[in-house]
Amino acid sequence: MNDILRHYARLQLPRYTSYPTAAEFTPSVAVADQRRWLRDLDTTEAVSVYLHVPYCRDLCLYCGCNTKKALRDDVIDNYRQALEREIALVGDALSGPVRIARLHWGGGTPSILGADGLASVMRGLRSRFAFEEGFEHAIELDPRYVTVSLVTGLTELGVNRVSLGVQDVNPLVQAAIGRWQPMQDVETAVTRLRAAGIRNLNFDLIYGLPLQTVASLRKTCEIVAAISPDRIACYGYAHMPRLKANQRRIDENTLPGVEERIDQAAAIAGEFLRRGFVKIGIDHFARPDDSLTRAAMAGRLHRNFQGYTDDARETLIGFGASSISRFGDGYVQNISDVPSYVRAISNGQLAPSRGCRLDAAEKQRARTIESLMCTFQADLDVTAPDLEFCEELSLLQPLVDDGLLRIEGRVVTATDPGRSVVRVIAAAFDPHTRTDPGRFSRAV
Ligand SMILES: C[S@@+](CC[C@H](N)C(=O)[O-])C[C@H]1O[C@@H](n2cnc3c(N)ncnc32)[C@H](O)[C@@H]1O
Ligand code: SF4
Repeated sequence: MNDILRHYARLQLPRYTSYPTAAEFTPSVAVADQRRWLRDLDTTEAVSVYLHVPYCRDLCLYCGCNTKKALRDDVIDNYRQALEREIALVGDALSGPVRIARLHWGGGTPSILGADGLASVMRGLRSRFAFEEGFEHAIELDPRYVTVSLVTGLTELGVNRVSLGVQDVNPLVQAAIGRWQPMQDVETAVTRLRAAGIRNLNFDLIYGLPLQTVASLRKTCEIVAAISPDRIACYGYAHMPRLKANQRRIDENTLPGVEERIDQAAAIAGEFLRRGFVKIGIDHFARPDDSLTRAAMAGRLHRNFQGYTDDARETLIGFGASSISRFGDGYVQNISDVPSYVRAISNGQLAPSRGCRLDAAEKQRARTIESLMCTFQADLDVTAPDLEFCEELSLLQPLVDDGLLRIEGRVVTATDPGRSVVRVIAAAFDPHTRTDPGRFSRAV
């Protein structure tokens, strides 16, 4: 079985945080679509909001996020003002007051705005949107910059979930990825957040990084689990040097091969399962009593740009450079180049650059792929009743023959070994990926 898995794990495929993936967006979706989708929002339905801050104090060599090194504070402040202006522009485009049920700050390192900057953006949001009582308010933080004053500011803003980028605790790995982060920094950040009452903590880890081994990752898992986060996202390192200049500084000779990556992913899962975490989807772990686990158990798990979520809302409004908004009928992504985004917004214009419209067939493909990514199964009569999928099912036959997949009538189910390559199964339902493999990362 390992030979077979290795074969599929070599394929370069999307992580399917959306379907179609952002790689398929085109400039044919423009401001007119965005305005129409905003205007037509059902104001009785709450929405989710994502705020993107594309700056960090320093760039990590492995980073695949849309971010850059912040050299000047006035540039960050201009960006914050653009975010606030965009919030006002979007507010103007809505046909009535809309409620926010979830708010997620991502990046980059959003706390680079400082507690005052974050509070200023929140005031902008509150002036244009209503908030649901007890809404989930999450932020991604770099543990090296979690100061006492930042934590105080976050509690005042009502932040109630934090994701900390832990990545790996081994000093040799940290040196190879350009991210020096003593474990003490993570422990101090956690202590400060918990003391301030922010108790929902997620950790991000990565496997497949330079110099990592199964043994080093087992140790990382042991150290990390001792701090008892509620959720752990453990991503396979996506090495895309063609797209990410910072990754070209990683010595490819130090990267684990595909077999090692398979072993690393399996070892991590073993370590966390042994310590009482539940595996969620392809790369998340959560405590048995966590809301993500409960959602997974109840078949209410979803996938969005942050990974797995129990957020079932259809509409996500993204603010900031490169952020993606999701509407019932399509996606729209803002300009990624930060100065161009700031310029457009400062001129009083919304800043979409590309996106895609979803017809009925694309929506059914999206539902099928989301179901596979969340539950390792898709009942095609439920997810895609109008599509026959003859070509797709024949493409999947080799995986059936290899024992990775069962097809019973119109129900497609990954077997236990097949779960680790569910991206390959999902890709069969995605006509776009049968093209240029260099755009995506390894399936494991
Ligand atoms: C916006 S960052 C998290 C917040 C903060 N900037 C930090 O690094 O602590 C989001 C997460 O994406 C993950 N990530 C970044 N680049 C990646 C890559 N090339 N492959 C896999 N995961 C990656 C990391 O785990 C990182 O914590
Ligand atoms: S991993 Fe986090 S801190 Fe490092 S460059 Fe990426 S966004 Fe910035």
